[in-house]
Amino acid sequence: MGPEGFQTSDVYLRTAVSIDPKGWAKFDYVKMPEYRWGILLAPQQEDRLVNFGAHKGEKAWQEVPGEYRAMLRRLIVVQGDTEPASVEQQRHLGATAPSLYDMRNLFQVNVEEGRHLWAMVYLLQKYFGKDGREEAEGLLQRRSGDVDKPRMLGAFNEATPDWLSFFMFTYFTDRDGKMQLESLAQSGFDPLSRTCRFMLTEEAHHMFVGETGVSRTIERTCEAMKQAGIEDPYDISRIRNLGVIDLPTLQKKANLHFTLSLDLFGSEISTNAANYYNSGLKGRFQETRIDDDHVLTQATYAVSKFVDGRIKMVDEPALTAINMRLRDDYVADCAKGVERWNKVIEKAGIKFRITLPHVAFHRHIGEFANVKASPMGDVLSDGEWSKQKDAWLPSKDDGDFIASLMQPCWERGKYASWISAPKVGIDNKAGDFEYVKIHRA
Ligand SMILES: [Fe+2]
Ligand SMILES: [Fe+2]
Repeated sequence: MGPEGFQTSDVYLRTAVSIDPKGWAKFDYVKMPEYRWGILLAPQQEDRLVNFGAHKGEKAWQEVPGEYRAMLRRLIVVQGDTEPASVEQQRHLGATAPSLYDMRNLFQVNVEEGRHLWAMVYLLQKYFGKDGREEAEGLLQRRSGDVDKPRMLGAFNEATPDWLSFFMFTYFTDRDGKMQLESLAQSGFDPLSRTCRFMLTEEAHHMFVGETGVSRTIERTCEAMKQAGIEDPYDISRIRNLGVIDLPTLQKKANLHFTLSLDLFGSEISTNAANYYNSGLKGRFQETRIDDDHVLTQATYAVSKFVDGRIKMVDEPALTAINMRLRDDYVADCAKGVERWNKVIEKAGIKFRITLPHVAFHRHIGEFANVKASPMGDVLSDGEWSKQKDAWLPSKDDGDFIASLMQPCWERGKYASWISAPKVGIDNKAGDFEYVKIHRA
């Protein structure tokens, strides 16, 4: 279920062969079917403890704690299920790659997500016996978007129709992955913690691909607008005629991917999340750096809720608000890269800002699942929503336009009309480096 075609091509990939700084980033030409899926765990820390919840201060578990077996298995299966899903969503994208550089990055992300599935399956096989093996088999049976056996979480069943979607996905949805891995890396179950800590080193590259992919798209749009003497970012048809993606459409794509990713954090108030935390299985983002008691039985946390037809902040017990807190940390993390995108627009002298929509906008899970709200957070009637939704989310017309730009560009050092060249090559390679040697079978 990996990339369609390119099985015989030589791809300049980074392979992790060991966890030390020299071994985890070996660059060389590899055929994807020969990419090595190692089991890589961050080094075991002597005397590591459970750092939060009811078992805080006990020695970290090297074996599955019997009383939490089902919960732990569930956490690993849900995480594992997301890993191959994006590969399945993206498998057709090689054919329309805007450059060999981008094609290589896509394949790098794909092989690593495959390895991440392997990392989760390893835990199921090694620590959970027969039912672990059955769950591992289930991970192989499910497919993204399949009517009968879909992936477990919504955003992982959405299509990735074009390269802008791929960049938005790696920026917003892989970042959800980062937040989940960060909180699993805190786990009192040490093998899970060590596995996730190593996966995070790879995940950073996925978000780099997303952030720079969007940034290069913005850069190219601004450059083309300037060359054509267009100042108004809403002069959409003239901008599109330049073969670049207008900024309002980029905003709509960001709105879509951000909100689908918010849904991945689950309900704001969740007893499951409280149980995971209390049991020492899944912590908070940067748990050990937070200045509190790490038990949270007395603490509260402000949660945005829908009360009497209005969006309000309400103090809730911190334990049940664990998902909300992780989502808040995620939103703050997202905002940083968006600011860097805005710097590119600002530098070009164009009056436009990309913003993250309100968390009540376009939601399918949690407090706002049944609320219609604008990106500014105004509650709307169904009628107002349907009148305006095409201004906020990609329409069919927007999708068709983006699809029309997805022409492959596989000449060394060349880029499709809608995206700039990167500032630096992968592994510091020169601009015309042949990142993929395409061999047709
Ligand atoms: Fe991953
Ligand atoms: Fe990823």
